[in-house]
Amino acid sequence: MSYSAKIGPSILSSDLACLGSECVRMMECGADYLHLDVMDGHFVPNITFGHPMVECLRNCVGPDPFFDMHMMVSRPEQWVKPMAAAGANQYTFHLETTTNAGNLIKEIRESGMKVGLAIKPGTTVEELAPWAGQIDMALVMTVEPGFGGQKFMEDMMPKVSWLRSQFPSLDIEVDGGVGPSTIHKCAEAGANMIVSGSAVVSSDDPRSVITMLRTAVSEAMQKRSLDR
Ligand code: DX5
Ligand code: ZN
Repeated sequence: MSYSAKIGPSILSSDLACLGSECVRMMECGADYLHLDVMDGHFVPNITFGHPMVECLRNCVGPDPFFDMHMMVSRPEQWVKPMAAAGANQYTFHLETTTNAGNLIKEIRESGMKVGLAIKPGTTVEELAPWAGQIDMALVMTVEPGFGGQKFMEDMMPKVSWLRSQFPSLDIEVDGGVGPSTIHKCAEAGANMIVSGSAVVSSDDPRSVITMLRTAVSEAMQKRSLDR
């Protein structure tokens, strides 16, 4: 087993006027990486921030924190180089936004970033499968992308289970409505990279929530390896 349990807070639910200190706070509370949600108002009905903000965040947090860029944008090709230059580590684009995923994967790698491939709830996992051998991470959305604080869609779990069975060492991320009450479903299905926004950021004790989420994933991984 080559993957491990990692928790990536989504800072979308934090006070956006304090993004730098919120990123630092999440890392101090034990986050394994930071999940940064970029929205363009076209692919999703909301706008957040772009590469200038990412560059400022990188300067603020230093070189170490891993930035997983969740690109909810209509033209992901446009932002590969600017995001790499701004200090992004992984570029996660949506399969729905491109007709040439292969080329985009190549461009992301050539820019020195890892590759994540995301699917919305309405996109089947079979559509992602042909690319699974070429990517570092598959993101199964568990809400319609666009907003934090939505209800977890449990009916996405078969996608995660199927991916885990087909690609045993792939990083599989879930995003949307994931917190202490829904983590067990994700962990049992086989997700190992856990995005959690409001459940972590709005908690009085983010450190405990992050630890709890990671423990749930690690225990499910151990159980799977014993069952094999
Ligand atoms: C939604 C974003 C998520 C969101 C998660 O489109 O991709 O990353 O911030 O927030 P919660 O965990 O509150 O659903
Ligand atoms: Zn996200």
